Amino acid sequence: MKTQRSIMAILSLAVLLVLVCGAPRAAEPAKAKDPLTETKAERDARMAWWREAKFGMFIHWGVYAVPAGTYKDKRIDGIGEWIMLSAKIPVTEYKAFAKKFNPVKYDPDAWAALAKEAGMKYIVITSKHHDGFALFDSAVTDWDVMDATPYKKDLIAALAAAARKQGLKFGCYYSQAQDWNHPGGAKSGYDDGGGWDDLHKGSFDAYLKKIAIPQVREVLTKIQPDILWWDTPHLMTPERAAPLHALIALRPGLITNNRLGGRYRGDTETPEQEIPDTGFKDRDWETCMTMNDTWGYKSYDQNWKSTQELIRNLADIVSKGGNYLLNVGPTSEGLIPEESVKRLKEVGAWMKVNGEAIYGTTASPFGKPAYGRITAKPGKLYVHVFDWPKDGKLELTGMESKVTKAYLLADPEKKALTVTTAAAAPQTVQIAVPAQAPDPNVSVIVLECGPAAQARPAAARSGGS
Ligand code: GLC
Repeated sequence: MKTQRSIMAILSLAVLLVLVCGAPRAAEPAKAKDPLTETKAERDARMAWWREAKFGMFIHWGVYAVPAGTYKDKRIDGIGEWIMLSAKIPVTEYKAFAKKFNPVKYDPDAWAALAKEAGMKYIVITSKHHDGFALFDSAVTDWDVMDATPYKKDLIAALAAAARKQGLKFGCYYSQAQDWNHPGGAKSGYDDGGGWDDLHKGSFDAYLKKIAIPQVREVLTKIQPDILWWDTPHLMTPERAAPLHALIALRPGLITNNRLGGRYRGDTETPEQEIPDTGFKDRDWETCMTMNDTWGYKSYDQNWKSTQELIRNLADIVSKGGNYLLNVGPTSEGLIPEESVKRLKEVGAWMKVNGEAIYGTTASPFGKPAYGRITAKPGKLYVHVFDWPKDGKLELTGMESKVTKAYLLADPEKKALTVTTAAAAPQTVQIAVPAQAPDPNVSVIVLECGPAAQARPAAARSGGS
């Protein structure tokens, strides 16, 4: 009896305590430090994996893969994901395409495995593009994969899980300022400033409040991406961008790009479809590029870049200190076009042999020699030769440190190549190379040289190629 009374006493005391002090709150998710107030060391730590990674897969996927570049039997010019605007398709009519968006052949594990096989270290997929369609389960709209399509499964969550299984980082692209399906979202001014359908009428600020802000919160809390890839900054004043920027705090370590607007620079510059002549001083940057002429799938766009061009782009970009985000545009069935798969596997074969000359390297201390590009690591230079010298001699001028050994990266035995320096020009090294280039696309020669590969910027030239 006595023990029963003391148990009751303790219990009522506990209830009293809860009433007075309130129930212990669920642990608040760790709030990320605002990148604007980070120290350089904190920023370097947050960016480290990204700077090491160098190569990622961009995926543009959505309802626009159904018309696939054709509307009313007419081929619509321009990039595929813009077909709704390019053809001024009315909202109701465009929404009907979603009934045919049923990616039964979608295999997120195969996509992630392909990215990995290509040598890519991260994936960035369109969670919502300008057409406003959410590929994830969104509670704030019925214009998403759950409510508007026969497929009814979260496409983004599935790919995030598959990517993580492959040890890849995962990112979400989100079109915050252009939304051609939610009222007020189409005010971007790309057309005559206000949309082309009465259903576009509405306040842009209301669109941000009701759709963009809650959806970004959904993406950050449910998908927990490592990267948030904003796109396009139109109409984004500092006041409009601030609540979106504030959401970054929900995702410690998150990396964002420079396309939020409102003077938020984010972490990375994003040159598009181009490779800058020289990198960006003191800024991380990433060139995003299509493999043909469209981001979103167009059934008849067969203007594919060659594998050689893609590998040389990668070497070029990395030699200037950048990352390469290479795009695929899957079909509405959920397949990555065969031409993309073939090229990614070929790039992957090259990366298997030459990845050391890409991952974790820094920009060339030599600028770019005429015959190729150069990447660096402490004590090592990687000479990426595009045009193999016909006379078997490769020259590098401006070397301040001594080359202790040179060898072909593709040579498993790392047999030493003969290196000579002319007494008259001690900073010019000449490397004797085999007549046949080890690789038809890019052949890498490794130069081991003193602790830090010092270079005096000077034009390097190849002997007689
Ligand atoms: C441009 C295109 C957009 C695409 C983006 C990728 O902004 O308009 O459709 O998603 O580039 O960088």
